[in-house]
Amino acid sequence: MTAVLSIDFANAERVAEPDFAHHPVAVDVSKVSRTFAGNTVLDRLDLKIHSGEFVALLGASGSGKTTLLRILAGLDAPDGGEAWVPEARTVVFQEPRLVQSMKVWRNVVIGLPGRLATRDRAEAALAEVGLDHRIDAWPATLSGGEAQRAALARALVREPRLLLLDEPFAALDALTRLKMQRLIGELCQAHGPATLLVTHDVEEAILLADRILVLQDGAIGYDTRVRLPHPRRAGGKEFDALRDTLLAELGVPQTE
Ligand SMILES: Nc1ncnc2c1ncn2[C@@H]1O[C@H](COP(=O)(O)OP(=O)(O)O)[C@@H](O)[C@H]1O
Ligand SMILES: [Mg+2]
Repeated sequence: MTAVLSIDFANAERVAEPDFAHHPVAVDVSKVSRTFAGNTVLDRLDLKIHSGEFVALLGASGSGKTTLLRILAGLDAPDGGEAWVPEARTVVFQEPRLVQSMKVWRNVVIGLPGRLATRDRAEAALAEVGLDHRIDAWPATLSGGEAQRAALARALVREPRLLLLDEPFAALDALTRLKMQRLIGELCQAHGPATLLVTHDVEEAILLADRILVLQDGAIGYDTRVRLPHPRRAGGKEFDALRDTLLAELGVPQTE
């Protein structure tokens, strides 16, 4: 008798680990440079992100994280090099940027072609972020966390192949931030866009990302896979070791 199916349990986790290198490339940045009034912020930066991959980008304040994200969003253009991105891409910023004179559901479908800008579609997206009970609310009556959920629903309703997040949790209180981090992790797993999360929070990056980059001197200076199983919790030997490595890369070496 021969075995037709054999599972190597010792290696099961490693085998099951998604290998994004085999996924199609969603973002292809080649030698991108950006200079503001003689200040070179991005300097021949190269970066590939694969479809379905969740990448966190760390970097000191002023290192060029938002500049790179704006180029990928199409809100700014590089002075040199090329950046290829999917047509279907959306951004969530630190502040929710809702139109105050429109109810929540209209904010969610704002800018979509008329036949897609329906209340049903808005409601489905709001349900995904746990905000369908506020569908008819005015933005001014939302809490910070609720407003950011609405911004997330507005991004998801577009079914992006690339989701760009620029410090989306930075203005939230600690508890709301934890809930939003979990929600983003779940939504990205469910929808599978390529995701670039800009953050200065090392622990947030380790909790969420498949891969973490550090922006240094205008280019990707450090690039590492995160192999911890999901759902992740802060703490533990591997988590702490990675955090210390990343902090050192950010110029904040840890002392015992
Ligand atoms: N539109 C602009 N005009 C002039 N300088 C800019 C502009 N946008 C960004 N910068 C400068 O580029 C550098 C990087 O900014 P930014 O990308 O916002 O950094 P980060 O998001 O990493 O904090 C900063 O020194 C900033 O002042
Ligand atoms: Mg920024």
